[in-house]
Amino acid sequence: MAYQSATLNVMTAAARKAGRPLVRDFGELENLQISMKGPADFVTSADTRTERILIEELSRVRPGYGFLAEEGGAVTGADKSHRFIIDPIDGTTNFMHGVPHFAISIGLEREGQMVAGVIYNPVNDDLYYAEKGHGAYHNNKRLRVAGRKDLSSCIVATGLPMMGREGHENVLKEMAAVMATTAGVRRFGTASLDMAYVAEGRFDGFWELGLKPWDMAAGIVLIREAGGMVADLEGGQEMLSRGSILCANEYLQPQLLKLLKAAKA
Ligand code: IPD
Ligand code: CA
Ligand code: CA
Repeated sequence: MAYQSATLNVMTAAARKAGRPLVRDFGELENLQISMKGPADFVTSADTRTERILIEELSRVRPGYGFLAEEGGAVTGADKSHRFIIDPIDGTTNFMHGVPHFAISIGLEREGQMVAGVIYNPVNDDLYYAEKGHGAYHNNKRLRVAGRKDLSSCIVATGLPMMGREGHENVLKEMAAVMATTAGVRRFGTASLDMAYVAEGRFDGFWELGLKPWDMAAGIVLIREAGGMVADLEGGQEMLSRGSILCANEYLQPQLLKLLKAAKA
């Protein structure tokens, strides 16, 4: 790792430990037990096992910290200042379909502020990590958001609501506006990695509505530490509670916000 701290070591060690059996599962998907949590929302035994390993590892080294995890929900710890926000598999649909683009996402919140994030794709051994004040990294490389200023040369990622979720009409309007203004829209299916790619300068921006805190928590730290701007789609800082996010560099973020607000109106 290019930057190490006790906090990041704990988080990356947990992600790597939980990632090993996940890679084995990915190799033999047909043996997984699949249950349906809701329309097109698969929960696999891999999700619950990954979350269990993460919580076991993190609470062993940081006893008392609270958790907000996708499968298990909120657990208050003795230490009210800290909580880990966890998505055991972000990109479950990709995972289920044998698409090697999914990640374990762990964010650390201190006094209500996101202070560290780890996003790990165990198939490629792609480790993204950031800690407040210490930069963002992909494996050994320091990250910096892209420097483009003109939307016409930019690619912007988003997420599309699946069947049964709200917002189909709205996102189609937003897509139309962004498609008409940029070099292209991308939809890869893993919000945490979309944000990591913005931090890395692969994507120039990312927006999505209807997200949960665990989709965004780690990515928020990565974007900020890579010099990018993050806001909710109202332009505020209530991403986790509003469930919407727009991130890009300082030039594009206000342009995209204006475009998306106008598309909605
Ligand atoms: C989903 C992914 C996807 C996003 C969805 C999320 P999951 O998370 O991040 O990219 O578009 O809104 O729910 O269900 O795979 O953990
Ligand atoms: Ca997710
Ligand atoms: Ca998930």
